Amino acid sequence: MPGDKSLSHRAAMMAALAKGASRIKSFSSSADCAATLACLARLGSSIKRSGSELLVHGVGPDGLRADGEPLDCANSGTTMRLLAGILAGQNFTSILTGDGSLRSRPMARIIEPLEMMGARISSDGGRAPLVIEGHRPLKAIKYGLRVASAQVKSCILFAGLSAKGRTEVVESQATRDHTERMLRWFAVPLEQGSLSVAVDGPMTLEARDVSIPGDISSAAYFIAAAALLPGSSLEIMNVGVNATRVTFIDRLRSFGFDVAVSDVHDECNEPVGTIQVNGSNSSSESAALLQGALIPQLIDELPLLAVVGSQIEGGIEIRDAAELRAKESDRIAATVQNLRAMGAEVEEFTDGLCVTGQTQLRGAEIDPRGDHRIAMAFAVAGLIAKGETEIKDAECVAVSFPEFFELLEAVVER
Ligand code: S3P
Repeated sequence: MPGDKSLSHRAAMMAALAKGASRIKSFSSSADCAATLACLARLGSSIKRSGSELLVHGVGPDGLRADGEPLDCANSGTTMRLLAGILAGQNFTSILTGDGSLRSRPMARIIEPLEMMGARISSDGGRAPLVIEGHRPLKAIKYGLRVASAQVKSCILFAGLSAKGRTEVVESQATRDHTERMLRWFAVPLEQGSLSVAVDGPMTLEARDVSIPGDISSAAYFIAAAALLPGSSLEIMNVGVNATRVTFIDRLRSFGFDVAVSDVHDECNEPVGTIQVNGSNSSSESAALLQGALIPQLIDELPLLAVVGSQIEGGIEIRDAAELRAKESDRIAATVQNLRAMGAEVEEFTDGLCVTGQTQLRGAEIDPRGDHRIAMAFAVAGLIAKGETEIKDAECVAVSFPEFFELLEAVVER
């Protein structure tokens, strides 16, 4: 698998903020991470890219500069929200913008804490473009997240690096902890509780080499496809198996699929391992209910799990997942629409959906609404459906996984 997208964003940003040179191996091939690199280069850090390897010359905490032009985050929420945390603590003004999808996504969730810390941010009613008037040093705050979001947590931690004193973020549900792990890799001490993390600022990062593991959220489509196609056998090596990202695998196992994780070891503070899948029919008998604290742990895999749910006895119900409506598309509406187009029986809720199980899907025309994860989830649906499935604008997969279709062709036997 190409390098993990979440980790690649963080590695590039931290390397750019550190003093000195960092080499990053297996950097994500995604368009989202390319947007992060383009923004960092515009802010003055020197980045040399050769394939999946990067050499970043960090500018140190005071070295970023603005050229007055808007920074284009393209389709990437992680780029915009994490960079906003960095830019809030600069002594210049910057503008963050993005494509139509990103400009429609909620940004009040980062504006509120960053303004409490002393930055001034104007927006289009809580949406990008964001004009960020940085303040140096920022004021340290203790902040309770209103939405379970690793992006918001990370934004505040990045701002905390240029605040005076202790900045603490408290979560009510655990989200992915990549920022915490990578900050420690870049020599920043943190105080962590089970649902809290604190950083003492101002803090300078030390340059570090980073090796990025394969992206588990990209691997998920291959894992699900292999699990659902009896007779399949798949092994994925060197993939990230951070506990906040592998709940999808636990769920597949609970549905009776044969998925195993082995050879787990730590690399640059992140657990990495091998995943083996053998295709079979599910042996699950009761309906699966995904809700509550499970949701942030499964957030990017929920459309795919809805597809899997259409194949297991009892089906699947997803609740407490209204956040899905604020992703690259309204992922609840997109999943419901496309599953129905393939003949599944689906009920839509404000905060989720319910799919009837053991449905023979039929090939259909899929509208992914420009959303990479919907396109890939329905490519898996297309593999198990009877007849031909056509995915419109399928090139949107490049947002996270440009090699997706090529790799799928390479492993699927006709
Ligand atoms: C991400 C966090 C998640 C996830 C997104 C990447 C990250 O978003 O959906 O694809 O890299 O921190 P939220 O934290 O906003 O839910």
